[in-house]
Amino acid sequence: MSAPLRIAVLASGRGSNFAALLAARERGELSVEFVLVASDKADAPVLQLAQSAGIPTTVLNPREYTDRRAYDFALFDRIGASKPDLLVLAGFMRIIDGEALKPWAGRMINIHPSLLPKYRGLHTHRRALKAGDLEHGASVHYVTAELDGGPVIAQAALTIEAGDDENTLATRLLPLEHQLLPAVVALIATGRLALDDEGIQLDNEPLRKPLRWQKGILAP
Ligand code: GRF
Repeated sequence: MSAPLRIAVLASGRGSNFAALLAARERGELSVEFVLVASDKADAPVLQLAQSAGIPTTVLNPREYTDRRAYDFALFDRIGASKPDLLVLAGFMRIIDGEALKPWAGRMINIHPSLLPKYRGLHTHRRALKAGDLEHGASVHYVTAELDGGPVIAQAALTIEAGDDENTLATRLLPLEHQLLPAVVALIATGRLALDDEGIQLDNEPLRKPLRWQKGILAP
């Protein structure tokens, strides 16, 4: 059996998606090793979660760097030292410099609370409501220099109900995020999913459209 996939998580806040990854590993659904949790915020609750689980943490304060690029190179240097195979952005609330992330192309994924390509960036729930969308959701995608613009691996969707507001939407979407992210990481950890020059490959076939999280599985 090959060694478990080594994962570094980047997160700025509460860390419920990271907690979902931990829980999936506990349940035996994810054969991975969390080698580091990195944050830009010293008081991010995600750091406590990691420490309680015995996972190393690191914090880099952006204010201590001259600009974004200097910060990002320092951050990825620090992360690289723990030799991860995969970087998972789970609520990492910073835009990453394109040059700094180049070495990690194809080895970094992000979870974003919209059905990409809709609503890149912030306030996704508000924007979906304002547009009168019938459906909203979350996407897991490979990270490229384009903000929330890399190839989308998989999505989970929900129906927007009359009376939904930003809070109810976020609250109903979060449990779906917590299923979607571990399911995608499991595909990568088992070697079934990868990104190459041709695009996303699943079981050695090009993935022509994002997978959908449906009835507890990732379906084409
Ligand atoms: C999630 O909604 C995720 O989609 C977005 O940031 C939020 C992070 O939440 N990128 P948490 O810190 O994982 O609880």
